[in-house]
Amino acid sequence: MSTGTIASSTAWPDSLTPDLLRLVDMPTPYLVTDLDTVAARYRAFTAAMPWATAFYAMKCNPAPEILRTLAAEGSSFEVASLGELRALQALGVDPATVLYSNPIKPPAHIAKAAGTGLWRFAFDSPGELAKISMRAPGAAVYVRLLVDDSTSVFPLAGKFGADVEDAYDLMLLARRLGLRPYGVAFHVGSQCESTGAWRSAVRTAGELMARLRPEGIELEMLNLGGGFPARYLAAEPSIEQIGEVIGSELDVLPYRPGLIAAGTGRHLVAESSVLAATVIGRETRGAENWLYLEVGAHHGLAESGQAPGGWDYPTLTSLEDHAEVPRLPFILSGPTCDSSDTFAYGVELPATVTVGDVLYFGSAGAYTLPYATSFNGFPPPTPIFVGTVPPARH
Ligand SMILES: Cc1ncc(COP(=O)(O)O)c(C=O)c1O
Repeated sequence: MSTGTIASSTAWPDSLTPDLLRLVDMPTPYLVTDLDTVAARYRAFTAAMPWATAFYAMKCNPAPEILRTLAAEGSSFEVASLGELRALQALGVDPATVLYSNPIKPPAHIAKAAGTGLWRFAFDSPGELAKISMRAPGAAVYVRLLVDDSTSVFPLAGKFGADVEDAYDLMLLARRLGLRPYGVAFHVGSQCESTGAWRSAVRTAGELMARLRPEGIELEMLNLGGGFPARYLAAEPSIEQIGEVIGSELDVLPYRPGLIAAGTGRHLVAESSVLAATVIGRETRGAENWLYLEVGAHHGLAESGQAPGGWDYPTLTSLEDHAEVPRLPFILSGPTCDSSDTFAYGVELPATVTVGDVLYFGSAGAYTLPYATSFNGFPPPTPIFVGTVPPARH
């Protein structure tokens, strides 16, 4: 994590610079999102992958303003639960256009989702197929493949996925159960840093397609999952580079499914937001400099603890001379009595930073607010929006 000038690889919306945020007449903590940046990321994504349909994975930021912005741009949506589907329905999204991509679903959610007209469900096990065949007879199902997620910052750690052999057996079982063997999906892990991960995952999907074809099963959908990276501090492959690699792999598949879906989350929204939090305490403990903020791991910065070695949000301060003054390494912690909300170590910040100053965390639009709690009675950041807010559909 660093402060001062923002590295050129980092995306910091021009509308959300500290000079402008100092003028915001709003108590901290808040998460400010530039909706025009969301729209721009969506357009760049679809330009880089014109053969794909983006299904926004709303789990990473389900703010209605963001959902409406993406819907207005033409995005489709992917859900992880009935609750997410209900939120889309409230905005006028047709459930028949939505993918239900959580491989393990509460049985009641399957039945109720099917009742709305949603017809495509992910799975990766016989148990899930049994649930789907009983609660959503005749539904279309897509199998989640196990692929290498080791080049991602947030791997899925073996929680989901079937290998090709098991996926083949499962698709035949799906047909025997009266379901429609519809597609294949994978997830290379969130914030994936290597184009090679998609290359080998698409090849693995191709192996499954080749195995199923002699059985008379031609898949209608290939879901490339999420994992498309956003810019923080490290250099990531660009969406254009990833699009080129996937595009060339699609050309050598046994055949091309009619729908190439991309269940992308983080890439579309992370760079659009800045999290602002005020320093509530500064203490020296032994040789360590501690900063206590209004937010920590329990109030939106949970991902900092999930990445091996910590997670790098580009960070600025409200100090007008923040780029010039000497720096000190700080430990950053949240406001609670719990030690588990400490979220960063060795952060170089202006040595003069003190109580009342504000820290601005950039690229904070994904997996922040949905994780935030009111633990210890401290409120989560307030969401605010700038840019073009699209009207509600009804
Ligand atoms: C099934 C599925 N699709 C898409 C995503 C979104 O991933 P990302 O935010 O890395 O794009 C996730 C995230 O966990 C997921 O589980």
